[in-house]
Amino acid sequence: MRATNFLCLGGIGLAAAVAACTVGQGVHADATGGGYESSSSATDPTSETTDESGGAGATGSCLPADVKALMASQCATSGCHTSTSDSKKPPLRTFADLTASSKVDSSQTLAERSVVRMKDSAQPMPPDALLPASQVSVLESWVKSGMKPIACAPSADGGPGGDGPDGGATAPDEFDVPAKCTNGAGTTSKGSSMDPGRACNTCHSFRLAGTVYPTAHEPNDCRGSNGSTSGLKLVVTDANGKTTQVSINSAGNFYSSTTLARPAKVKIVDSAGKERPMKTPISTAAMGDCNSCHTQNGAGSPAAPGRILAPK
Ligand code: HEC
Ligand code: HEC
Repeated sequence: MRATNFLCLGGIGLAAAVAACTVGQGVHADATGGGYESSSSATDPTSETTDESGGAGATGSCLPADVKALMASQCATSGCHTSTSDSKKPPLRTFADLTASSKVDSSQTLAERSVVRMKDSAQPMPPDALLPASQVSVLESWVKSGMKPIACAPSADGGPGGDGPDGGATAPDEFDVPAKCTNGAGTTSKGSSMDPGRACNTCHSFRLAGTVYPTAHEPNDCRGSNGSTSGLKLVVTDANGKTTQVSINSAGNFYSSTTLARPAKVKIVDSAGKERPMKTPISTAAMGDCNSCHTQNGAGSPAAPGRILAPK
């Protein structure tokens, strides 16, 4: 789906992770220093300390690329397994996270427990549907082979601000940012660029409408991402498998009156093909008013994490 960077995200907890890795097969919480609370904190979701200070030859313990990509795209997605704030959804991002012990069954690491849940149709993970066996086997075979870490990539692979931190839909810290009106005030004059950020169907009755933003907590009436120059699109796949593209205008607004068979899946796609999917399908007409949930700080049920973001 997207290029994934292989930088070590686990600055904190590295020592514990190294200790854990030397234990090899069957590492448990006792080896990692006491479970996932210690492996990261809400303020270091993608700590790049290794990259900045480590320079060439930075090593440490990182996840193999395929495992990391799987976790990032399917588990550590926004609102899910990204932070320590909800103990029911432990972070599943780093080597240290995955080798910490499960709170539900302390005889298992979170990696082992994840495999169990990824195969449990009664309690599926991800919650909407079980993944194909080919994807589950990426994690499962790593677990079976002893959960060995790889050395973290050196900083040359892309430091902060480079093309490296492109976790995209998966980078938790994109929602851990201050409010910002990146592109300045939009317009309230009636028309397609009006009222960016506001719930359009308060006044209209579009099937789908909303605003795409460059950062997660933009106030109402701030212009969104300019889709007319960047080629951003909303791609909708309805319940019949019919795909519709909705263009995003220069204010970041989009709207459509195309009939939509629900449940429908939506994603924001850029001209390079990078995408940010919403995992929850659009199941009711009210959900077509995207900004009603994707408010500055997020609202609705399930509550959105903030604005709809353009892929980076
Ligand atoms: C507070 C009420 C209100 C909100 C909120 C609002 N609009 Fe409008 N909009 C209007 C009015 C009134 C008009 C002018 C009358 C008309 O053309 O329907 C209008 C006109 C439009 C038009 C041109 C006419 C049409 O229907 O094609 C578009 C497009 C439009 N708005 C899009 C949006 C979008 C997208 C949003 C959300 C980002 C939005 N509006 C939010 C009240 C609103
Ligand atoms: C009922 C509330 C709700 C509505 C309405 C809603 N969303 Fe979401 N959206 C969420 C939640 C919750 C998440 C985070 C979990 C997920 O991906 O399902 C999310 C996530 C997303 C994401 C991925 C998050 C990211 O990283 O940027 C995109 C894109 C998105 N929504 C687009 C849309 C679009 C487009 C619409 C309107 C057609 C829409 N949403 C309507 C609740 C909502």
